[in-house]
Amino acid sequence: MYVVRPAAAAAAAFLGLALSLLGGTAASAAPGTGSPGAPSATTQKRFLGPVVYAHRGASAYAPENTIEAIDRALWMGFDWVENDVQRTSDGELVVIHDDTLARTTNVEQVFPGREPWRVKDFTAAEIARLDAGSWFGPQFAGARVPTLREYMDRVQDNQQRLLLEIKKPEAYPGIEEQTLKLLGELGWLDEKHVSQRLVVQSFSADSVRIVHRLRPDLVTAFLGTPTVADLPRYAEFTDRINPWHTTISADWVKAVHGLRGAHGKAMEVDTWIVDDATTARKVREMGVDGIITNMPDVVREAVGGF
Ligand code: G3P
Ligand code: CA
Repeated sequence: MYVVRPAAAAAAAFLGLALSLLGGTAASAAPGTGSPGAPSATTQKRFLGPVVYAHRGASAYAPENTIEAIDRALWMGFDWVENDVQRTSDGELVVIHDDTLARTTNVEQVFPGREPWRVKDFTAAEIARLDAGSWFGPQFAGARVPTLREYMDRVQDNQQRLLLEIKKPEAYPGIEEQTLKLLGELGWLDEKHVSQRLVVQSFSADSVRIVHRLRPDLVTAFLGTPTVADLPRYAEFTDRINPWHTTISADWVKAVHGLRGAHGKAMEVDTWIVDDATTARKVREMGVDGIITNMPDVVREAVGGF
């Protein structure tokens, strides 16, 4: 099982046809097929550009990790969105980046005296009362911190795809199993979703390893920049290494690509957070497979991603 990138597959099919008309022998141009004669992933990337992920939704244009942010990404033409998952005091999974509610909600006004306003110290009902939009702009007043269930329903309705980050798993024992259980209940662990629409990532190698053990069919990513010497250890349980863009070089990307990951395919690299054209072009030249960005339109304009 491996994530196929449908937009890439369609465009690559066209590319394969074009190459065959030009005298090539592309039997299949789907990414990662490795068919004899198929254009390489490198060739496809050169023509198609990297995959563009809307980080926390289109978070330069709408409040991060809200329904409004993923709707904005859809409106802009992006189907891959990224989010962050944490847990409330009464065990509900919610979508929010910081481990406190202070920066992105009005929690200080609604619940004075509850410092430091940690996500894990509030119930889901309390968090549902918060305004997660006004801090970003008055037009977003009333936006909420979505539960993961609400968020997944909208991703599904929007026919989008999700790069799901398990955030600070050390604070939430069992969050991997709980997240997978919910995804399963919502139909996101069937063959089609697993192969085309879902990647699970974390900064915690232990967390990625747990996800891989619980659901070996899922595509996973480790957030970070392991040394080249350490990469083979990661390849045992993950498919991708997703690094901060300032920490990588073309040689490092090549080293990742040179390894086969947990599903026997060449490992991939999706880098973050790239919000300007110069950096987008730079990481594309390094050969990254995907770019995670708050400004997906800027990246697409710069490198022709999808
Ligand atoms: O997806 C990569 C990125 O989200 C990692 O950093 O802090 O924004 O979760 P952060
Ligand atoms: Ca994240």
